[in-house]
Amino acid sequence: MGNRSSEKPYSRKRQSDIFLGKLRGNQKKIPISFEKLRAKAKVQLPEEAFAYIAGSAGNEVTKRSNRSAFEKWEIIPRVLRNVADCNTKISLCGSTLPAPFLLAPIGVLEMAHRKADLAVSKAAAAENIPFIFSNQASVPMEKCSRAMGTSPRWFQLYWSTSDDLVESFVKRAEACNCKGIVLMFDTTMLGWRPRDLELDYLPFLRGMGIAQYTSDPVFCDLMDTNVAQADESPSITINSFRTLIQMAQNYPGGFLKNIFSDEPRKAVKTFIECYSRPSLTWENLSFLRSITDLPIFLKGILHPDDARMAVEAGMDGIIVSNHGGRQLDGAISALDALSDISQDLVATIPILFDSGIRSGSDIFKALALGADAVLLGRPYVYALAIAGEVGGKRSNQKLSGRI
Ligand SMILES: Cc1cc2nc3c(=O)[nH]c(=O)nc-3n(C[C@H](O)[C@H](O)[C@H](O)COP(=O)(O)O)c2cc1C
Repeated sequence: MGNRSSEKPYSRKRQSDIFLGKLRGNQKKIPISFEKLRAKAKVQLPEEAFAYIAGSAGNEVTKRSNRSAFEKWEIIPRVLRNVADCNTKISLCGSTLPAPFLLAPIGVLEMAHRKADLAVSKAAAAENIPFIFSNQASVPMEKCSRAMGTSPRWFQLYWSTSDDLVESFVKRAEACNCKGIVLMFDTTMLGWRPRDLELDYLPFLRGMGIAQYTSDPVFCDLMDTNVAQADESPSITINSFRTLIQMAQNYPGGFLKNIFSDEPRKAVKTFIECYSRPSLTWENLSFLRSITDLPIFLKGILHPDDARMAVEAGMDGIIVSNHGGRQLDGAISALDALSDISQDLVATIPILFDSGIRSGSDIFKALALGADAVLLGRPYVYALAIAGEVGGKRSNQKLSGRI
């Protein structure tokens, strides 16, 4: 990654920690390779949770091509270039990052670990790696921000049917000192995900992954007004009873209070009604631009024309991503899209990238193909499932160490 300062790369320290740790008899809890990481997480996670995290849309062709696109590219190293002094730092939107990656927004992290976003926030803060809070988080952004001190964080927004709710989320993100807003719009409809369909599993219906909503004053008003009525009492079966228990566990205020209350069901129903706005167009972006001065990044760009339109709409950056293949099966691999887009958009706005990053050399390839930084997704979720905060931290170190 070139000579940029006199700091030593982290990789040497990390490697010796691993080798010397073995000599000292420390057990290696978190596998090094992605495949082993995934396999270990699979053993530890409930079947539905693993299916939700690992699964993608349709026949998972796009998920596979996200990986094969990386394998198509090879690095031709140059030698004898004095790499004694180099580091992995980059500058993004005025901040210096220790490595060219951020942690992607991932919803419903409570499926991976009970401390969910809080554990990830602490792991990210320990390495000063930015964490993008998901709109579908399991822990409200205020709690995560408190745990992160001055470490950088961003907020990912899904555009709700209510502009008041959109504004409220953005204002909360500003109050949490988020460094940017990531607007995600490829999920106006949930992708067709056979693994979840086969297990009949959608976590949001159990009140999971809606903590940003249930902690929001505008959402609470919505619950009490236009969509206030919960369905007539559902007929009680073992499954519906289990769902009611889960909703009561996941809603703020305590299980005993919630189990006798309608609020958890009202929250889920309100969420379903207001979660996404399929009618969104480029014109709506001026509203977002008008309510915040934070940098806005559009996530889910795959076409060079859309990248150009993002610049014209005054956006501050784009994230080339196909959501890890979770939305549209058959969509172009994110890496192929990146090389098309970056040739077109040379250095006008920052280009971030995700979908398929599994190692430091993947990051290198994405940067070589025009990304300014990348987002890490599933690998940190598997590490979280295996070892909570420590796992998240190790997966960050592993990548910083390998670039
Ligand atoms: C379980 C899971 C949940 C996700 N939730 C969100 C989300 O709430 N918001 C979002 O913008 N992207 C979400 N994503 C997509 C990620 O931000 C990222 O684009 C994707 O994980 C990249 O693919 P990869 O993990 O295969 O590298 C999710 C991905 C997974 C695997």
